[in-house]
Amino acid sequence: MADYAYGPGRNHLFVPGPVNIPDQVIRAMNRQNEDYRSPAVPALTKTLLEDVKQIFKTTTGTPFLFPTTGTGAWESALTNTLSPGDRIVSFLIGQFSLLWIDQQQRLNFKVDVVESDWGQGADLAALDYKLRGDPSHTIKAICIVHNETATGVTNDLSAVRKLLDKHRHPALLLVDGVSSICAVDFRMDEWGVDVALTGSQKALSLPTGLGIVCASPKALEASKTAKSVRVFFDWADYLKFYKMGTYWPYTPSIQLLYGLRAALDLIFEEGLDNVIKRHTRLGTATRLAVEAWGLKNCTQKEEWFSDTVTAVVVPSYIDSSEIVKHAWKRYNLSLGLGLNKVAGKVFRIGHLGHLNELQLLGCLSGVEMVLKDVGYPVKLGSGVAAAAAYLSNSTPLIPSRI
Ligand SMILES: Cc1ncc(COP(=O)(O)O)c(C=O)c1O
Repeated sequence: MADYAYGPGRNHLFVPGPVNIPDQVIRAMNRQNEDYRSPAVPALTKTLLEDVKQIFKTTTGTPFLFPTTGTGAWESALTNTLSPGDRIVSFLIGQFSLLWIDQQQRLNFKVDVVESDWGQGADLAALDYKLRGDPSHTIKAICIVHNETATGVTNDLSAVRKLLDKHRHPALLLVDGVSSICAVDFRMDEWGVDVALTGSQKALSLPTGLGIVCASPKALEASKTAKSVRVFFDWADYLKFYKMGTYWPYTPSIQLLYGLRAALDLIFEEGLDNVIKRHTRLGTATRLAVEAWGLKNCTQKEEWFSDTVTAVVVPSYIDSSEIVKHAWKRYNLSLGLGLNKVAGKVFRIGHLGHLNELQLLGCLSGVEMVLKDVGYPVKLGSGVAAAAAYLSNSTPLIPSRI
């Protein structure tokens, strides 16, 4: 049977997750099921648990590979470290931080919501104030989305750590790195992050289905007394199986594990720091194109610019969802919709994961054509020229081809 809505050529997938999957990863996953209790799967899992620490930049953290999505990884982070009624501080800056806060409230934590305009970063002055006013340490955790995918805002985690240290506050630092880890600089140990988490369909460039959670020694200690009900996501079950060397309390997604092996191998071959630099280039080039089109970035200050997603604000006479629909229908280009408060007002260009400079230029030329089609007075080639001028000066030789 033909694909539903087949289009010739490749789809230009520029949503901020799920992203393009490398052919090597697809091939690695194209395999039979196997007995996960044979020696092969534990041997593979052991290498994954060791190597995945590198993407978090941790040597002391303990990783868990859950068959879940980012939302499950959130739940794992919260329920293993906190008890119902615990007070937490959580920043609301866009749709994904909003959804995490909703989960925190439904799990019965007492959430101090610190809200900012969508397009701004976490309000760290408010955090400073709250920590100063909490000498008896009633705040048990700070929850923060490193990169808010709805608005293209990256928060400064080292600044959050500095505030906790300044006030000698022992609150746990729980970080959603779903659209940052493996693409944006992230340093679990250096920044004293207690739980970091990501999802496989973002910068790791895998299919959806793995939630990767990494716990610091302090978070593991907290899990011994945390009273939230947890079953599927209980770290203790995993730790028991880690000790036995069999690793899995229930059936793992074996194909995804082989995919993760291939994805990590590709990242290490390029070099994680090179991967991060590539994302900086792609983000910068996208922002230059937006500027050349005369449009605004939803992100209000440069310090918050995201190198994985750019939310582009459209003039009020254009509905941004028409741009997204038209791009897909006419040019086989998939862009991200504006979500919730910014629905109709922004469209998003995802520039993360398995992606290179020329793919991005293809996307930018598509965006220009769509903008023209919907009646925005764009000069065709203007954004592409600005991005290409920058990229031709900044793109290094491919590391494995030097
Ligand atoms: C920053 C962030 N956190 C969490 C999620 C939720 O992840 P999932 O859809 O995999 O459950 C997303 C999804 O896009 C996200 O961008």
